[in-house]
Amino acid sequence: MDKFIVEGGVALKGKVKISGSKNAALPIIAATILTGKDCLLKNIPHLNDTGVMTKLLKSLGGKVAFEKNSMRIGNKSINEFKAPYDLVKTMRASVYVMGALLGRFHKAEVAMPGGCIIGERPINLHLMGFEKLGAKITIEHGYIKAKAKKLKGADIYLDTVSVGATANLLMASVLAEGNTVLRNAAQEPHILDLCNFLNKLGAKIKGAGTNTIHIQGVSSLKGGTYEVISDYIEADTFMVAAAITNSSIIIENAPLADLEAVKLKLLETGTEIKENRKTILVKGRKTPKPSNIDTAPYPGFPTDMQAQWMALMAVSSGTSIVNETIWEKRFMHVPELNRMGANISTKGNTAIVKGVKGLSGAPVMVSDLRAGASLVLAGLKAKGTTEISRIYHLDRGYEKIENKLQALGARIKRIK
Ligand code: UD1
Repeated sequence: MDKFIVEGGVALKGKVKISGSKNAALPIIAATILTGKDCLLKNIPHLNDTGVMTKLLKSLGGKVAFEKNSMRIGNKSINEFKAPYDLVKTMRASVYVMGALLGRFHKAEVAMPGGCIIGERPINLHLMGFEKLGAKITIEHGYIKAKAKKLKGADIYLDTVSVGATANLLMASVLAEGNTVLRNAAQEPHILDLCNFLNKLGAKIKGAGTNTIHIQGVSSLKGGTYEVISDYIEADTFMVAAAITNSSIIIENAPLADLEAVKLKLLETGTEIKENRKTILVKGRKTPKPSNIDTAPYPGFPTDMQAQWMALMAVSSGTSIVNETIWEKRFMHVPELNRMGANISTKGNTAIVKGVKGLSGAPVMVSDLRAGASLVLAGLKAKGTTEISRIYHLDRGYEKIENKLQALGARIKRIK
């Protein structure tokens, strides 16, 4: 298994270009199932997860060519309606094909995703919504089957704000007969991007980016070319990289409007941020000031930045409180940061982070994607060598992270 070796304590400098958004690309690739016409998707990041989604489309009978960052997809030939366990277990976002298959073919079968390291991750809201649209759901032998004679628009309220349920129900309803309303919908930039893509293909969706989305069903979708937004979590991660290493870097191709929550919290720590069109200049300070966070659905502080934020707070000049409100077990990075000299204690979903003067390199292990990013950031700051194992988690969601960091002057290398 590959590892990262990081020699810390080096200031970063130069420019980094942000890649396409993983969490937008995955539902958009799945949404191409809704049309038999060809689609060309641009700005798709090369990640393990986009690779798995490609495999999944091919296993359904779709044709996919993925070159540079463009994906050409033809789904006229889809003749399978089942997402097998082997693929779903490696990537939970495989569940997105359910809404799309159900939408176009009125049938879908997907292996039960099961829990994961950051929490239980139920999909009850996805299934409740499919039923409201007229599908019959059965669960047998570890697979969820959805079937409908036809789908009919419905008024659907989601008890919890869920990115996955919102995306899946959007896909299931664009071709349904009549009108659908999704209430308490997720407002994340990747939901807006999915809606923009679907509208480009001829869907009639209004209110995307707000908590109430209206979908007027259409009889079919056409093909089209679409460029996926850039990844705000990757941009946020690089902003924190500059802050934690007291460096000055330029972030290009940044989705400025989507960075507000993390940007405003970074300003509280004394980090300087200047924006200019799609470029941001971030300048750290010697010791960041402490700043509390509560994770929340967009536009709140993203749970996908909580682990990276904790690495920064670990070396702040005081005590900060981190409240994780989305995932019940998302503190797996805490013992690893403590192995590097951090002083973090947790009680339930709250962490108390007492800033220390410095971190020291140590062997650490990645438990999930964002925990991995947090350990890379801590390794960049720490004195000495940090050996980070199980980096396959990072390969799921950060495109060429070590190459981008090396170009900024970081001493990080991958060993096989
Ligand atoms: C997506 C992101 C993930 C991010 C999360 C929250 C992708 C591929 N992944 O995950 O990186 O951390 O949003 O921003 O985009 N819930 C239910 N029932 C459901 C569905 C969700 O109770 O049917 C709960 C979950 O347990 C969780 C909360 O809703 O507490 C949010 O989950 P959700 O937004 O659905 O996360 P994902 O879409 O899986």
